[in-house]
Amino acid sequence: MKISIKPTDLGRLESDAIICFAFKNNLEEIRNSFPSLAKILQEAIEKEDFAGNYADSLIIHTKGLINSYKLILIGLGEKNDFDIYLLQKAVAQGVKQVLDNKLVNFAVDIPDYWLEKYQTYQAVKLTAEAIHLSSYKFSKYKGAEELKKYRDLDEAIIRIPATKLQGADTALRIAEIFSLAVRQARDLVNEPSYVATPKFLAQTALDISKKHKNAVKVKIFEEKEVIKMGMGAYYGVAKGSAESLKFIHLSYKPPKVKKKIVLVGKGITFDTGGLSLKGAEHMETMKLDMAGAACVLAVFSALPMLDLQVEVCGLIAACENMPSGRALKPGDILKAYNGKTIEVLNTDAEGRLTLADMLSYAVLEEKPAEIIDLATLTGACMVALGQDIAGLWGNNEKMLAEIETSTFEAGEKVWRMPLEKDYRELLKSSMADLKNISGGKYGGAITAALFLEEFVGKIPWVHLDIAGPAFAEKDTPLTPRGATGYGVRLLLRYLISR
Ligand code: BES
Ligand code: ZN
Ligand code: ZN
Repeated sequence: MKISIKPTDLGRLESDAIICFAFKNNLEEIRNSFPSLAKILQEAIEKEDFAGNYADSLIIHTKGLINSYKLILIGLGEKNDFDIYLLQKAVAQGVKQVLDNKLVNFAVDIPDYWLEKYQTYQAVKLTAEAIHLSSYKFSKYKGAEELKKYRDLDEAIIRIPATKLQGADTALRIAEIFSLAVRQARDLVNEPSYVATPKFLAQTALDISKKHKNAVKVKIFEEKEVIKMGMGAYYGVAKGSAESLKFIHLSYKPPKVKKKIVLVGKGITFDTGGLSLKGAEHMETMKLDMAGAACVLAVFSALPMLDLQVEVCGLIAACENMPSGRALKPGDILKAYNGKTIEVLNTDAEGRLTLADMLSYAVLEEKPAEIIDLATLTGACMVALGQDIAGLWGNNEKMLAEIETSTFEAGEKVWRMPLEKDYRELLKSSMADLKNISGGKYGGAITAALFLEEFVGKIPWVHLDIAGPAFAEKDTPLTPRGATGYGVRLLLRYLISR
């Protein structure tokens, strides 16, 4: 969809609908903005008892009194509560009204208050992103009859005052790059696992490389090479599946490089639990277990279009976690790339096994300045933080703080969690260097992070457990049920700020 910026007067904007916003009990501004509509606006406000409460909306036929066919008014609630998340949710709510009313083009009026609180660049970027993301749908498997019901949005205008235009065009361009990447990540995760196989992820990486004429370099390692390299933990997980594993290595190097960052994405294309088989209910959404990998791939699609000064390496140990006659068994002892041995007591704690080899590889072969891993790693993290917030761990205070800032500015959510030293002993094994589960009931997200820490050495590292926010179990303003593309925006924001 095309989005453009216009400083046109509100009444003269031509569109199917104009989306406006009002804070609670603050309807004066909106009345003043549309003098010709004052009367019908007042009537509607009174009749529908619209007070600008958060998530309230009011739709008015403008009867030709202004150039837009409808006016959609979205409540923002208390001014004090207003933040980046609310901004995007409010825009998304407006877009939803446009879609529900089967309209195809619309304008969004950015209120003055937003431009007082945020710079034009930030306000426009968040608005444009919310438009791109809230209109996403994954409908390729719907029947023709159903598809007929959908109408694609055609064009959107973002209106800001002529005095505030600086930075708006860049914001639009960046928002489009970010949103395309998020949409790509969503598509990858939403695909059924028989489509989004390790081979498919590898092909996606190769396609990205080809599209950007080798600005992104991709190498795919096959099973034989992975065994030869000594990635015993990764191979252990992969060997029970009929789908062959693909170790996907991506790299992007801009002309001027300040430092190198490795991104690791968990790439289990389906997690049955293996022989420690999951129950049916817990398996329902397990095609999502490659959301970290999808995020890394989507980031690489965007990198060549951004003006970066960091070299980025992406590592994905793609495979399935399946039970079979060839599968990993509880009690097996695996040897990771860095030589550490792991006693596997639960084959459903497989993500950390594949990540152990990717992190070791990053440390020993890539020698980066920083490592960031994203993984749908534990149900325990969802128990702790719910479905919207990722858990954040790391061994470097500065990096943690910068990731937090980037995440917040990107409109995503994280919460910092401890790498509690006293829990390390929970991972001690009597037969190997480590075991892959703690055995106890509690603190599972923390022990998983502690397990990963064993493979990063001294390199500044952060781990994001995205088990919750990677997938929305029901429709939300910015995402229909399914993959959210979580992590793409925060990573891109972080990389740009380096
Ligand atoms: N992929 C799952 C974690 C997960 C759960 C992601 C729910 C998204 C939603 C992971 O491989 C897993 O199975 N973890 C186990 C670890 C346990 C066996 C120590 C879990 O969380 O139950
Ligand atoms: Zn698992
Ligand atoms: Zn998993």
